[in-house]
Order: sequence, then structure tokens, then C-alpha cells
Amino acid sequence: MKKLKILNIVGARPQIIKASAISRAIAGEFSGEIEEVVVHTGQHYDRELSEVFFDELEIRRPDHNLQVGSGRHGRQTGMIMERIEDVILDEKPDCVVIYGDTNSTLAAALAASKQHYPVVHIEAGMRSFNKTMPEELNRIMADHASTLLIAPTNAAFKNLMAEGFRPENVAPYSINNPRVFLTGDIMYDNSLFYADLAERKKQDFLAGTGVGDKEFVLVTIHRDSNTDDPERLSAIFSTIRDLSEANSMPMIMPLHPRTMIALRNRVPELYAAISDHPYLKVVPPVSFLEMILLEKRARLIITDSGGVQKESHFFSRPCIVLRKETEWVELVRNGTVKLADADPVRIKEAWDYLRANEGNLQYPAFYGDGKAAITILKEILAVFRS
Ligand code: UD1
Ligand code: UDP
Repeated sequence: MKKLKILNIVGARPQIIKASAISRAIAGEFSGEIEEVVVHTGQHYDRELSEVFFDELEIRRPDHNLQVGSGRHGRQTGMIMERIEDVILDEKPDCVVIYGDTNSTLAAALAASKQHYPVVHIEAGMRSFNKTMPEELNRIMADHASTLLIAPTNAAFKNLMAEGFRPENVAPYSINNPRVFLTGDIMYDNSLFYADLAERKKQDFLAGTGVGDKEFVLVTIHRDSNTDDPERLSAIFSTIRDLSEANSMPMIMPLHPRTMIALRNRVPELYAAISDHPYLKVVPPVSFLEMILLEKRARLIITDSGGVQKESHFFSRPCIVLRKETEWVELVRNGTVKLADADPVRIKEAWDYLRANEGNLQYPAFYGDGKAAITILKEILAVFRS
């Protein structure tokens, strides 16, 4: 039987990591049934935001790199659309697989659907209900351009129902008669798969960070609402500095280049203070295996990342999220993720609560059985194999 051809679209760091779960399953169980073509939009291009993941996670290299680079939303999204349309028309895939909520996600969804190529959206139905986030606009539009919507949580599935998607639809599916499908989370697959590898391959990494066996807190910040607002940026980093000093607690901060640039340009005095500080260790972005080790060993995680807050749960670490709201609402309900916005009082309250209660926190399995990629590929075959 002819293989089903899928275009696997990546662009930003978390998408390369997410796509690795699908790539790995295609190269394994599905090698006789599915042909994969990887398209990298080039939205992320620094080695530590892109190349490092292809090397380390041993996944298929991009067959096409659109090299769009950075730019304002319209320009970046437009350039991806223009270039990816050529690839889609040339490759003629059976479906186009997109992940999450970046400009790469939106551009691929629009380009494919307007050329009548079906779109599979992995991480469909995630909602913050805050349309000032670029990601919220991207994910809503990507969902409504899709033929197969893969929801990773019950909350996501319910969000899709509320927007009029119908679980009772039957084949043949199309953009006008889409299929909504609830699975686990492919990032849970990845955390299970790579955790042992991280321990084996990166034994010396923690010693190299200078913390060795000591306690530390892991911090990541990159969300535009935090980096592009000097008041929020300053409130966050001053509070982190205060907490580290008051508790003599080392903080490891692998910072996205966007955050480094913002600190240097928008709050130079604070940047100077945290760059040369006994407890604060600012480092460039780390690899995924290194990140897993940091997450597993951290006493607590402070982040505005979608992926990192979820990984805090996978590795049973309490987490403070520097946002007003989150799409991963089950974590907040569970009490292990505390939303603190960029508010020093709320951040300190969350810190005190999570440290005082860490022995009582539970981390139930919200995200499936670690085999979401296999379930998704079976569903893709069922929907698109003619
Ligand atoms: C993007 C996504 C965000 C996701 C994040 C993952 C959108 C709208 N945002 O945000 O949802 O959480 O990726 O990390 O798609 N830069 C570099 N090197 C690079 C890439 C970017 O230095 O390789 C710098 C540039 O100054 C650039 C800035 O980071 O202007 C922002 O990059 P961009 O891709 O626009 O958005 P992210 O903040 O990375
Ligand atoms: N990550 C990483 N190195 C880092 C920071 C993050 O490998 O220095 C991984 C992290 O473990 C998670 C993903 O990148 O799997 C999350 O990406 P990011 O925070 O950039 O984006 P978001 O999830 O918020 O869209």
C-alpha cells in the first residue's frame, strides 16, 4: 500500500521538541505506512534554539528550511505563508501536521487550508481566553482551519465543543466536517522517553553549572507580555533577586535571547545587577536533555513558559507561573501551579505556600499514558488513508 505522506511543520524551539515524538514514532512503528517530510520555517535559528534539538534528540533533519528569521508578526507570518505554500504545492502531502500556537503554526494552517490540503493540529483546543496574546489568536485560527484537531486535555476538548466543534461528526472528514480527537500529551511521551537518556548522557552537566548537589530554583522567562513591558520585566527580576537573597537560594536562569535583549535594553541597571550576583546564574538556553535534568532536580520552578509549567508536573516539581492565566488549567486546580502574574506580592505568597506545602503536593496523571504519538498517528492513518 502507498505510504501516507505528511508534512511535519516546525519553527520554534518547543515545536522541534514536540515534533520529535511524532518523528520517532514514524521512524519506528509507522515506517512502513507513513512518509515524513520535515519543514522548518526558520522562525528560530540560533543553534541553541534549533540545531541543538536535531542533534540531541536524533530526529529527522529538515527536508526544507524556509529561513524566515525574526520579524514583526505580519512580516514573519506572511513570509512563512508565501514560502510554505510553494513547499506544500510541490510535495503534495496527504496532510500537514502543525503544533501549538506560534506564528509558524498559523502560517502553515492558513497556507495549507487555502490550498485545500488538510491540516492536523496537535495541541488543539488550548485556550487562555486572552486574545491580547499572539498565541491565542494563532491557536484559535489554526483550530478553525483544521480537519483533524488533536486535543491533549479534557479542558481543551471542552473548549472545542464550546466553539461549535462536534464530536459526533463522522467520516469522510474535511475542514467543513472536522474530526475532534482527545489524546494525551506528546510532551509527556517525550519527558518519559528522554528522562533516562538525560541522566545517562548529561551526568556532568549539573556540576558544570556550579550548583552541583546544592538546592536551586529553575527560572525561565520569554513571554512577550513580560519581556516587552519594562515594568513587568523589572518587577519579575527584582522579585527573583529578593527571593534568592532572602533564602540564600541559587537560581539558574537559562534565558531566551529575547529576554536577554530586553533586560539589556530596557532595564540596564537590573541587568548589570543580576549578571554579577552571587545567587543568580544567567545562562544561555540549554538543550532539552539538560533542561530535563534541571527540572528534575530543581526545588521549585518559576516560569512563564507553557511547556516548562507542564514539565514541572511531569517531574513532580511545584511551579510559579508568571502570567495572569494559563491554558493548562488542571495544574492550577491541582494546586501545584500557582499563577502569580508579574506581581511581587503574589510571587512571594506563591513561593511561601509551595515551599511550606511541598511535602503534601500530589501530581496525578493528567496527560495520558506516554503513548500519545502512537495514538495520534493511528488516528491520522484512519482519517486520511484513502
Ligand atoms: C515564539 C512564539 C511563542 C513561543 C516561543 C518559544 C510566536 C508569536 N511566539 O516566541 O509562542 O512560546 O517562540 O520559544 O510565534 N531570537 C533570537 N534567535 C532566534 C529566534 C529569535 O535571537 O533564533 C530573538 C529575536 O530578537 C526575535 C525574538 O527573539 O525578535 C523573538 O522571536 P520570535 O520567534 O518572534 O518569538 P519568541 O519570543 O521566540
Ligand atoms: N527548553 C529547553 N531549553 C531551555 C528552555 C526551554 O530545552 O533553555 C524546552 C522546555 O523543556 C520545553 C520547551 O523548551 O520543552 C518550552 O519552550 P518555550 O518555553 O520556549 O516555549 P513555550 O512552551 O512557552 O511555547
